Amino acid sequence: MNPTETLPKPALTSGGRLLVGGDWREAQSGKRFRTLNPATGDTLLEVAEGDAADIDLAVQAARRALEGPWGKMSASERGRLLWKLGDLVNEKAAELSQLETLDTGKAIWESSKIDVPLTADTFYYYAGAATKLEGRTIPVSGPYLNYTLREPLGIVGLIVPWNFPLLLAARKVAPSLAAGNAAILKPAEETPLSALRLGELALEAGLPPGVLNVVPGYGPTAGAALVAHPGVQGIAFTGETTTGQLIMQNAARSLKKISLELGGKSPNIVFADADLEAAVRGSIFAIFYNKGEVCTAGSRLFVEKGIHDAMLEKVIDRAQKFPQGDPFDPKTRLGAQTSEAQIEKIARYVDIGKKEGAKVVLGGEPARVGNGRGFFWKPTIFDGVTNSMTIAREEIFGPVLSVIAFEDFDKVLAEANDSFYGLSAAVWTRDIKKAHRAARTLQAGTVWINTYNLYDAASPYGGTKGSGFGRESGMQGLDFYTQTKSVWVDLS
Ligand code: NAI
Ligand code: MG
Repeated sequence: MNPTETLPKPALTSGGRLLVGGDWREAQSGKRFRTLNPATGDTLLEVAEGDAADIDLAVQAARRALEGPWGKMSASERGRLLWKLGDLVNEKAAELSQLETLDTGKAIWESSKIDVPLTADTFYYYAGAATKLEGRTIPVSGPYLNYTLREPLGIVGLIVPWNFPLLLAARKVAPSLAAGNAAILKPAEETPLSALRLGELALEAGLPPGVLNVVPGYGPTAGAALVAHPGVQGIAFTGETTTGQLIMQNAARSLKKISLELGGKSPNIVFADADLEAAVRGSIFAIFYNKGEVCTAGSRLFVEKGIHDAMLEKVIDRAQKFPQGDPFDPKTRLGAQTSEAQIEKIARYVDIGKKEGAKVVLGGEPARVGNGRGFFWKPTIFDGVTNSMTIAREEIFGPVLSVIAFEDFDKVLAEANDSFYGLSAAVWTRDIKKAHRAARTLQAGTVWINTYNLYDAASPYGGTKGSGFGRESGMQGLDFYTQTKSVWVDLS
């Protein structure tokens, strides 16, 4: 059976309308836009296209929520509502995984084993964190009592991309609400469905109206309006580095606090003393997980010269067998790229790589899957890459691996750090000193040793340099959504 023949339909009781103040409405403009199934090129649903007018209504609704029951609710109660939302995500796990796979083209194996369970975990984690936000008592000079309160920012705008639509929404929604903010979530135009479903579940969990608003729409209209709105105190953004730069500029006018989780060009370094089989498996997962549409993708594979040939042979062999196909087939590990624009971008970089003298040793072209109208790209490996080539410097965001040979510990770390980005890095070695020395030297927000792409709701995540600033997940994930108030009492 061909799984696409029995494709589930997007199950949205709200019918693709946007969520403002607990109500499902059409956009003020009356416009709708299409979201596609990347595996077939077919339209899945037309969704309300929010813009500045809808963002303004959402800000008003969020303001009412803060002035109403939400602002008065105890942290414990907020925690219970978030826990309930985690439960609902788990209850609806099968349906949410399907929705995510339909909209993004990612393998159902990934959405059901990673995206959705981590989403539920994120709500559970921050449900517990709501009551752990504590102020301090400060030993000031003089007859005074000084203490701090950790307060919410107020209204926050959450702008997410299309590679992990549900999980990245949860990583922002959960901590912002745990800290007592009201939120406006702006999903990516390519993948609005799971965010809308999350809005439905939030209402079902009992979150008061206006606490979580979901306004789909385009970046330059809905997204930019959220960044510009004087009633919004903070913007948490994940996406392209150039968009992050633009948001930083635009947020300056209203002096908003911002958190930016941007692109990457992560080095994955394999030393000759590594467990080769484990390094091969890990390196494949590092680049082909979520079709390479991962900010932390291990797109620069540095291999020590002595094992270069043996490792490359094994990597090619494994990549060749990496199951690409219908995202709804449970055996598939490499689904469809999320948009046609991504296919064009990958093709452009593959051309550049060839022109600059790197050698395609696998793939390098689109793949034909199903009806032939989906956005599939074959697992692609370039050998003979140098760190100065364009394909080693710019984020491709696709299943394209650049293999770079190296000879020397210090030099490879210097090359790994010679990048505009600094999101993540990995090292493979059996030598613990080497591993920890590398971990200290690598300029990255996350370093993996003998593993890759591990995430947990409890572990902080974010970048340095061109990969942005701010940390999501863990208790540090709450910092962005809170501000400190210092209170003085005269005791004399
Ligand atoms: P993008 O950064 O433009 O989009 C991400 C989100 O930002 C979307 O919700 C979008 O609507 C919003 N946005 C866009 N312009 C905005 C603006 N002026 N003000 C406020 N919000 C705005 O990313 P895009 O265009 O979808 O993808 C382009 C490239 O970016 C990809 O090819 C990939 O290389 C990279 N990318 C990297 C991601 C990462 O996590 N590292 C995630 C998504 C894209
Ligand atoms: Mg863009």
